[in-house]
Amino acid sequence: MEVIIKQGKLDASRAAARVVARLIREKPDAVLGLATGSTPLPLYRELVRMHREEGLDFSRVVTFNLDEYLGLPPTHEQSYRQFMNRNLFDQINILPENTHVPDGMTQDVPASCAAYEQAIIDAGGIDLQLLGIGSDGHIGFNEPTSSFASRTRIKTLTPQTVADNARFFDGDESQVPRHCITMGIGTIMDARTNLLLAFGEGKAEAIAASVEGPVTSMVPASILQHHPVAKVFVDEASASTLELADYYQWVYNGKPDWQKDA
Ligand code: PGA
Repeated sequence: MEVIIKQGKLDASRAAARVVARLIREKPDAVLGLATGSTPLPLYRELVRMHREEGLDFSRVVTFNLDEYLGLPPTHEQSYRQFMNRNLFDQINILPENTHVPDGMTQDVPASCAAYEQAIIDAGGIDLQLLGIGSDGHIGFNEPTSSFASRTRIKTLTPQTVADNARFFDGDESQVPRHCITMGIGTIMDARTNLLLAFGEGKAEAIAASVEGPVTSMVPASILQHHPVAKVFVDEASASTLELADYYQWVYNGKPDWQKDA
């Protein structure tokens, strides 16, 4: 794993956005795996700025989102489809038909999940997957003890995740759906590159366990230690308990500029 520590979430997000932008410039029909939550917002703002000011072209880019709440229609304000439209898709020149989010209203969950996996394969696989991390170490909605071999499927949110996400539902936990469809850990591990972002003290424990702890399904993000190209962009607060923080800084600072964005 490569750990990139920046002072704040804005510099960390800009550094991560440069990696995404470089991929799109080199491969205009890149397939991106996207995430929701508060973490990727500054990165999406930076991509929108690059589109407007630097002509970053999304016209051939294809996207697949990690997850969606079950039971929320795509028009619901807190659905991940709406989140993506609002925070990214409506502000760049991506074709709506090139954007994919799991169907939270499907009447046939297994068939819909299998079709999502097939669509990723048909698109040529995910070149770069963006990930946030839960305070319990989850990636996507793959909660602790999720199988490392899992594919897109239905999952039940943990009480902790329901509590964490209540802030998006007026603080009312009873409004938070209990189930979701999420890409599996196996799906995430198939992406050619994984970029995990984490900001704030609340993520410090999960980051330390994922980067420096044992690989265990109790901390789903720890599987990224087995991924050939996993980059972790963190601010100082979320890096505060990393034992080898100085070493990660040393490695990153010693890289030539071209390699920093690769
Ligand atoms: P957050 O969520 O970005 O809102 O902190 C991350 C996650 O739960 O994966």
